[in-house]
Amino acid sequence: MFSANDFIPTTYSHSIEGGNFKWSAPSNIALVKYWGKKDNQIPANPSVSFTLNNCKTITKLAFAKKEKQDVFSFDLLFEGKPKEDFKPKIQKFLERIEIYLPFLKDYHFTIDTENTFPHSSGIASSASGMAAIAMNFMSLEKALNPSMTEEHFYQKASFLARLGSGSACRSVKGSVVVWGNQDNIKGSSDLFGVEFPNAIHESFNNFQDTILLVDKGEKQVSSTVGHDLMHNHPYAERRFVQAHENLDKLIAIFESGDLEEFIKVVESEALTLHAMMMTSMPYFILMKPNTLQIINAIWKFRNETKIPVCFTLDAGANVHVLYPENVSAAVLQFIKDELVGFCQNGQYICDEIGNGASSIDN
Ligand code: DP6
Repeated sequence: MFSANDFIPTTYSHSIEGGNFKWSAPSNIALVKYWGKKDNQIPANPSVSFTLNNCKTITKLAFAKKEKQDVFSFDLLFEGKPKEDFKPKIQKFLERIEIYLPFLKDYHFTIDTENTFPHSSGIASSASGMAAIAMNFMSLEKALNPSMTEEHFYQKASFLARLGSGSACRSVKGSVVVWGNQDNIKGSSDLFGVEFPNAIHESFNNFQDTILLVDKGEKQVSSTVGHDLMHNHPYAERRFVQAHENLDKLIAIFESGDLEEFIKVVESEALTLHAMMMTSMPYFILMKPNTLQIINAIWKFRNETKIPVCFTLDAGANVHVLYPENVSAAVLQFIKDELVGFCQNGQYICDEIGNGASSIDN
């Protein structure tokens, strides 16, 4: 069993004056949802997600040795321009991870970041963003300690990303990623995400996720507040047990390729997430009328055509439409004919299952 202390390095064999790294990291979409956490970003229940391919954050980290001072020193650029309002989040992240990366105060950093999806799309960039920064810091740590194994590199990257934003730990490596202890999943951990180790049926190859942008506005209740409302929530304990049960069901479904059962688990998880919000105190609703219109239209389409298409939701009003690649043409036609009208400015993003973060040569 790993403990957080396993990620505290002892000494570094090399020293390095300056340089830069660049990584892209994708967003991910949870099938079993993480909602509720304990101290130090430990999830209240395990979750599993599909890694996305097109919705990504690309982050360049430039670093230069500075006089040792007891402060973090960094500039934060978004699409090449200074972005002051992102800085407090990064400052907090650096404070959290300093014990695991003791070199952080030795350098001045320039963090230059951009997303492949529109900034105000309502797609959370915290998962891809925190994962991309974590990858860069790990590249620097690997330069200081070149004997680091690849396994440790990715595990620690996910561990660090988790401390930035929980779901970010599922955006590091692999197509299907589990985060959180689950008895039946070998290697699973509360500390970092792992690639789903069991068999995955070919029905899930190139699985598609078309993200319907229903509401691009700022959310009324942040995920941080929502997670917190799971403390003293009347249904929390049962919900956490249910997440384990649903993850167990998915293990069998991934192996068999039973899409009917897949749809039941995934849609139930999405609605349960939002049910937790509606039954919190204070209660809140993040779905919009058009979210429900889309859900009903998907159910009707599925009933009539028997095409295995389903939806899931994040902590927001947007709808992720999930389906196997072999029904893409029919589903995209359905989206254009019947769902685009429910999207803000008719906008949607076509994505599919991807493989995780990747290093970009400068
Ligand atoms: C609904 O990872 O954004 O998307 O750890 O506070 O940063 P923090 O929360 P965050 O929560 C995401 C919740 C979710 C479900 C999921 O991705 O599993």
